[in-house]
Amino acid sequence: VIRIACFASGRGSNFRNIHHHIKEGYLSARIVLFVTNNPSAPALSYAVEQGIPSHVLSVKSIPDSREYVNKMLGLLQSEEVEWIVLAGYMKKIPEAVVDAYRYRIVNIHPALLPFFGGKGMYGMHVHEAVYQSGMQVSGVTVHFVTEEYDEGPIIYQEAVSIRECRSPQEVAEKVLRVEHRVYPQALKLLFERPYRIEGKRVIFH
Ligand code: GAR
Repeated sequence: VIRIACFASGRGSNFRNIHHHIKEGYLSARIVLFVTNNPSAPALSYAVEQGIPSHVLSVKSIPDSREYVNKMLGLLQSEEVEWIVLAGYMKKIPEAVVDAYRYRIVNIHPALLPFFGGKGMYGMHVHEAVYQSGMQVSGVTVHFVTEEYDEGPIIYQEAVSIRECRSPQEVAEKVLRVEHRVYPQALKLLFERPYRIEGKRVIFH
C-alpha cells in the first residue's frame, strides 16, 4: 500500500474524491498525512473528521522559511510519505521538498497546460481566463510538480468542450466533473504501471 500525503487549500472536493476511491479499494494507497496552508479550509475539517493526521503549515504561522521547510520535510519523513498529491493546493511547494520528492509530487490543473498556467493561475482565475480567451475547449491536466509553477511533465490530459458554457462558473463545473473522474485514474496509472520520463513527456510502457 502506497503512503500518500494530500495537500489542499480550500473546498477539497478532489481530496475527498481521492479518499473515497481509496476507501472503495480503487486505489491501493493510504492517506497518511494531510497538509493545508489554510486553517479554515473545508478540506481540513474533512481530514480531521476522517481521522487523517492533519497539519496547518503556512508562512504566516511559520515566518522563518528554513523552519517552514524543515517542518514540512519532517512531517513527510516521519509519516514515511512516498507520494504527495496536490488537490487544489494554492501555495508553491518549497524547492527542498520538490528535490526530496523528485517526480513523486503530482498536481491537477483545471485547464490544458502549458496554456493558462503559472503564477496566479489557479482556481476560478484559470476558468475566467479561458472563458475570456474565447476558446471552446478547456480540460484537465495531471502533471508532476517541479520548481516552476505548472511546468512539470504531463502525466495525463483530457480536453473538455466548453462550447456550450455561458460563464466561467459553468466552465469550472464542467471541468470539475472531469477532474473527479480523471485524477483517481491518473494516480492509478502512476502507482501501478511502469513508465519513464523523457524531458517533459511521460511514457507508460
Ligand atoms: C480544482 O479545480 C483544481 O484543479 C484547482 O483548484 C480546484 C480545487 O477544487 N487547482 C488549481 O488551480 C491548482 N493550480 P477542490 O478544492 O474542490 O478540489
